[in-house]
Amino acid sequence: MIKDNYGRSVSYLRLSITDRCNLNCFYCRPCKNTRFIPHDKVLTYEDMFYLLGVVSKMNVQKVRLTGGEPFARRDILYFLNRIKNNFPKLDIRLTTNATLIAGKIGALKDIGIKGLNISLDTLDRDKYRRITGCDYLSNVLASIDRCLEVGIRVKINVVALKGVNDDELESFVNLALKKPLDVRFIEFMPIGQKTLWQRENFWPSEEIVRAAGNITKLDPVAEQDKNHGPARIYHLPQGLGRIGVISPLSNHFCLTCNRFRITADGRLRTCLFSDKDYRLLPLIRSSKVSADHLQKVLERAGQKKPMGYEIMGQSSKERKSVCQRVMSSIGG
Ligand code: 5AD
Repeated sequence: MIKDNYGRSVSYLRLSITDRCNLNCFYCRPCKNTRFIPHDKVLTYEDMFYLLGVVSKMNVQKVRLTGGEPFARRDILYFLNRIKNNFPKLDIRLTTNATLIAGKIGALKDIGIKGLNISLDTLDRDKYRRITGCDYLSNVLASIDRCLEVGIRVKINVVALKGVNDDELESFVNLALKKPLDVRFIEFMPIGQKTLWQRENFWPSEEIVRAAGNITKLDPVAEQDKNHGPARIYHLPQGLGRIGVISPLSNHFCLTCNRFRITADGRLRTCLFSDKDYRLLPLIRSSKVSADHLQKVLERAGQKKPMGYEIMGQSSKERKSVCQRVMSSIGG
């Protein structure tokens, strides 16, 4: 068990399997020429299996593969298949931009992937091009439909950006009315050294819920925390899907945080907002370091897991970004 000094325990691992992404979303990877982690410093699939073997014995029950874009990594289906076979009890999820999955959806279903979180910040083709630098919106929408057809649950993550996509609330609500999926608005966080975060872009959850409630009736889902992590979810009684908000800034959820994050270069971050990281890669690769030792390192790091809102509070006084590392290399 990984327990921290505040009595929280870790049961959920977010594993960034690559920092590479085929999109250039302006808020996520603000420098076009970001240097990617060199291949020899990226965890191999073997490294990750080893790590998963260790954490699965420490009460980690859920693993989310993130990126960059996880489907930008070669042979990801092979990797997923092996995880499913080796760790049948692990609940495996993925967060993707859904631009590269078109030919893989049937295979994902066969492997047993129950749901995908799909990052999509606009339903407008031109705006999609402006945000991501690419013209893939129709491809993404087709893949969303295909997932629903084969029975893969879809949660759409929309980074809430005032002045960018607040004019599309109605389109997103309509999408959730028409299709059996969740649309979740995530408050924009000041992550990464050169973050473009500005107060003017901040679109608070409360405002989103109020405005969505003027478009259609919202029924709060009972037992919020159990299945939705930090999201507050609302049924739409007049439609098929649901709307949610995730409010790391206006209503932090540090008290119930059960997460560890591993970056593609094998660094453990015990809090999204803290740049304090633990280099696991050398421990994973060294034949002289036992699995027991790695387990102890994870336990000790876990004990010191900070309360992110305290870091956020300090940073808002001192500087703009809450941490230096960019979101595309942390994995969300
Ligand atoms: N604030 C909030 N959400 C963000 N994401 C990326 N950068 C930010 C940010 N600064 C989103 C991605 C993805 C999820 C994991 O995090 O779009 O959907």
